[in-house]
Amino acid sequence: APQWLIVPAAGRGTRMRAACPKQYLLLGDAAVLACTLARLHEAFPEATLLLCLDGEDQWFHESMVPFARWQRLDGGDERVDSVRAGIDWLAAHAHGDDWVLVHDVARPCVTVADLHHLMDAIHDDPVGGLLAAPVTDTLKRQDSDQRIDATVPRQGLWRAMTPQGFRYGVLREAFTAAFEAGFLMTDEASGVEQLGHAPLLVTGRSDNLKITHPEDLALAARILSAQQD
Ligand code: C5P
Repeated sequence: APQWLIVPAAGRGTRMRAACPKQYLLLGDAAVLACTLARLHEAFPEATLLLCLDGEDQWFHESMVPFARWQRLDGGDERVDSVRAGIDWLAAHAHGDDWVLVHDVARPCVTVADLHHLMDAIHDDPVGGLLAAPVTDTLKRQDSDQRIDATVPRQGLWRAMTPQGFRYGVLREAFTAAFEAGFLMTDEASGVEQLGHAPLLVTGRSDNLKITHPEDLALAARILSAQQD
């Protein structure tokens, strides 16, 4: 099991066009944030959670956190800045070979089985890996008129999801190097790749969706209720 969980939850969710950030919309009778944390806690009850929230968050309540050990941190302007708050906090708390799992709050449908599957797959690894799914759609590159310029072979292409699990020392080095180089990481793996490592792609369920657009909320609700059957 990982010692540490970092959950970036400081997004404002503007693409959802909702009255509150998407992590506080309701999935059934609980907020997305509470659903995501419940899954993580079910899989790894002993881990310490670092929850990165917007400093002006008006919706968070401590009752949404099931972990015995957790810490609230201030997130930043971009996802990478929010995760970095967790990485920096860990400097005084983690060992270099500790496992850190980073999981987007907007992915409440990750299953306990996939969370365990990821840790089983990487636990002897010196670097780490992430849940991912092979691309199934045919991929097109557009030209400047939004017409098809080319069909991109999907052979060997994956969708990167979260959690992404890395040794603390590797993650720290990746963040330091990326910030020095001005390289914008959209996930942890991309920073680790820049160091020359090759993170493991661990096949996860394709229904581990990231709630992004308004229609995703109802879809997530259906996925969760189907998983409970
Ligand atoms: O907006 P998007 O879905 O790409 O965000 C991915 C994750 O990063 C979400 O969990 C969101 O809350 C988080 N995030 C953050 N700080 C930001 C922007 C996004 O923690 N400034």
